[in-house]
Amino acid sequence: MSKPKLQIALDSQSLSKALETVREVGDVVDIIEVGTVLCLQDGMEPVRAIRALYPEKTILADTKCADAGKTVAKNCKDAGANWMTVICCATIPTMQAANKEIDELQVELYGDWTFDQAKAWKEIGINQVVYHQSRDALLSGETWGEKDLTKINKLVDMGFEVSVTGGLNVDTLQLFKGIDVACFIAGRGIAEAENPKKAAEDFKNKINEIF
Ligand code: 5RP
Repeated sequence: MSKPKLQIALDSQSLSKALETVREVGDVVDIIEVGTVLCLQDGMEPVRAIRALYPEKTILADTKCADAGKTVAKNCKDAGANWMTVICCATIPTMQAANKEIDELQVELYGDWTFDQAKAWKEIGINQVVYHQSRDALLSGETWGEKDLTKINKLVDMGFEVSVTGGLNVDTLQLFKGIDVACFIAGRGIAEAENPKKAAEDFKNKINEIF
């Protein structure tokens, strides 16, 4: 089992706020995500700005792309992103088109998806999925639990690198002990902490303690 990486999700409403956060935590985390909220607010500008600050880091554009895979992926790549996301209900042709343009494509698992679909993603060469508890599901009372762990384990057994995200905090990580999680993605748990750098370090320390 490899040690899970840590990804910061920058979901702020403005580029300036995202840059403030990333300057504090960029050296602590393994992967920097320009979150969906920020992509929708400012397009690819945050990707360009963060690439200029961190030439060597893996940058993910969380576009949750549903169509026009080739164009969206090319835009992400040209701006400096290594990875991007597509939503799980995108068609196979959309995923294939995106996958040709970007270094790594991740499928974001929301709502209803099936393991037959996951098998089809694997067959077209997709290796990464993001297991997601949506912000809105969590707000409406959903919690992390055994049902999630079973699905994550099954995806790992299928050969996927599985990132896990959605309202994570340092205490939630314990739940995933013994599971081959590739990466934990944290947004508000780091960015909205009183001291984001310390919060990111706390996540890292907890990952080292558990895995
Ligand atoms: C929302 C996302 C978020 O970036 C991700 O879930 C992390 O956010 P948080 O830790 O604040 O829940 O993809 O669609």
